[in-house]
Amino acid sequence: MDGTLSQNDLSHVVEADKAHVWHHLIQHKPFETNDPNIIVEGKGMRVWNQNGKEHLDAVSGGVWTVNVGYGRESIAKAVYDQILKMNYFAGSAGSIPGALFAEKLLAKMPNQSRMYYCNSGSEANEKAFKMIRQIAHKRYGGAKHKILYRDRDYHGTTIATLSAGGQDERGAQYGPYTPGFVRVPHCLEYRAGDQGAPTENYGEWAADQIEQVILREGPDTVGGLCLEPVTAGGGVITPPTGYWQKVQEICRKYDILLHIDEVVCGVGRTGKWFGYQQFGIEPDMVTMAKGVASGYAAIACLTTTEEVFEMFKDDASDPMNYFRDISTFGGCTAGPAAAIENMRIIEDEGLLDNCADMGAYMLGRLGELQDKHAVIGQVRGKGLFLGAELVADRDTRAPAAEKLVQAVVGDCMKQGVIIGATNRSVPGYNNTLCFSPALIATRDDIDQIVEAVDGALSRTFG
Ligand SMILES: Cc1ncc(COP(=O)(O)O)c(C=O)c1O
Repeated sequence: MDGTLSQNDLSHVVEADKAHVWHHLIQHKPFETNDPNIIVEGKGMRVWNQNGKEHLDAVSGGVWTVNVGYGRESIAKAVYDQILKMNYFAGSAGSIPGALFAEKLLAKMPNQSRMYYCNSGSEANEKAFKMIRQIAHKRYGGAKHKILYRDRDYHGTTIATLSAGGQDERGAQYGPYTPGFVRVPHCLEYRAGDQGAPTENYGEWAADQIEQVILREGPDTVGGLCLEPVTAGGGVITPPTGYWQKVQEICRKYDILLHIDEVVCGVGRTGKWFGYQQFGIEPDMVTMAKGVASGYAAIACLTTTEEVFEMFKDDASDPMNYFRDISTFGGCTAGPAAAIENMRIIEDEGLLDNCADMGAYMLGRLGELQDKHAVIGQVRGKGLFLGAELVADRDTRAPAAEKLVQAVVGDCMKQGVIIGATNRSVPGYNNTLCFSPALIATRDDIDQIVEAVDGALSRTFG
């Protein structure tokens, strides 16, 4: 840490923060006696807080975001140059980085051809919902308007995206919700027994459960299906074999738009550009946010096929017949300028391959921990997007108590390693440790993370 601010200045920052800042997703009573953590600097995989304490960040900025690591001067420079030249104009006009980033990213997404800019994952998902609804009105007299979402998936924090939220602890106390969103079962094979699933072909069975809901609701009323490719905050759920092929077939059979929420997986997290590309599917719409510019500027995108886009320009004589939507800050040029440089770094530094290799290494190391600690029921994930589900009893798979899971996170923090855990998600199932190191992670970084978790598990569970 270079110590740009003196200790006096930093004490003032802490007091100002305690007096005025309302932090996200955290209770504030503890700040009456403890100081909040103020992160003042980052470099590579490491961050420093107000006390100069160094932490190895195993969660890319807490929420799967800083994919290329901290302190990237070339991104800062790209943003600086761009905003000095042209910082903003509403998205009804174009911008140089907006056009060039769309071209560059869409070249990695063979069946997608259009990009809509906005500024958060929730907002991108809302745009997709609005498109599905508008298509329902344009093509089906409003009937095919229902949007299916999955138990344990999360699509955002707004009222509409919480209406499509499969994590009841996120949604509790914020209702009533928007009608027209219908829940389908999750696909977590480890917990298939709780669903009464057969022991074989779980993937197909789980996809069949979606079809059952479509038949119950009436296929003529269902316009879209929104799914995370690998569920993030709902427990790092990798899909079972055979699942996605069947899901795609079902969508085609009933003319349902497949909307993949890549807000976490998008732009490298699983070792491919997009999570859906791991499973050979062709979505109609894709939303993304966190890793698009690694948090160097706010940006979110919704991409669609040309076929979807065409539905909005097929009758220019009707003044209502286009996507009547705007996102003020979707016109900021800092986002796409940072995103272009973020992509260049991923390509030039071979970070997709590193992510796949280091992800496999970390999965193996976590597997060793599972052999040693009975509390680890299952380890799962794809690329550098990994989870370890903690259980009180391996035979019954009863989840470990949340306070013990949080104790593991706290112990790692004391050791200078920041890990995560599913938090205010599915009632009773805030029991999965989450790991998402930056795509630049080395074996040494991963060893340090795994050793911290090993020590924390021993101290917490004996
Ligand atoms: C899968 C998924 N979708 C959407 C969102 C919402 O993104 P944002 O917080 O940028 O609105 C999140 C946030 O964690 C997410 O994990």
